[in-house]
Amino acid sequence: MTNKITIAIDGFSSTGKSTIAKLLAKKYNYVYVDTGAMYRAVSLYAKVNKFVGNDFLNKEELVNSLRNVSIKFKFNEVLGFAEVYLNNENVEKEIRTLEVSQLVSKVAAISEVRKKLVAEQQQMGKNGGVVMDGRDIGTVVFPDAELKLFMTASADKRATRRYKELIDRGDKVNYKDILFNVQERDRIDSTREDSPLLKADDAIEFDNSDMGINEQFERICSLVDKKLSQS
Ligand code: DC
Repeated sequence: MTNKITIAIDGFSSTGKSTIAKLLAKKYNYVYVDTGAMYRAVSLYAKVNKFVGNDFLNKEELVNSLRNVSIKFKFNEVLGFAEVYLNNENVEKEIRTLEVSQLVSKVAAISEVRKKLVAEQQQMGKNGGVVMDGRDIGTVVFPDAELKLFMTASADKRATRRYKELIDRGDKVNYKDILFNVQERDRIDSTREDSPLLKADDAIEFDNSDMGINEQFERICSLVDKKLSQS
């Protein structure tokens, strides 16, 4: 098989986009780009440099510092997926904390941040053979992607998944805070002015509230195979 397509996966937070994206990338030998990790890395940078906190955002200073922010992915052979590096430092763990999750929607709403990251994402995916997940991949980053998926699930299911993930890795969190964060991010991500979270007209919607990962993966692989046979 020599033809390679672009697979765009958008949807609400904690809908399992990255799990599916990683499986697809492995099966089809595609590059996986977790664009949420890029927004999280900028948010971590902004937090460390005190440009953003729970009750403040110094947008101007953050925007002026963006040229000093370098985000790279490096494939980890042991884990089997790419980890994110902020200015050459592996920040894979730091960007997944609840604290960063509480700041990221504010940072992701800044147009200058989006402009920089979208350009980098388009560069990473320009040759096809890429699975990219996020909020605006099918609408803004790759509006011509051959396959677009839009993942949804109830807020309660998503918060339960995220809570388990954080507890499993040893973070001290409570379920109510996670549920609130999931709902808040949905609200901010969907109502921001620049590139709000929207289902592209030609995206296929997947509600996985009651669907296991194997069933989702099987269904999505048949969609990919169909697209590959047509391309
Ligand atoms: O996928 P995630 O939960 O790791 O994403 C973190 C945040 O980044 C999410 O709340 C919204 C933002 N985001 C975005 O605005 N656009 C993207 N393409 C990806 C993520």
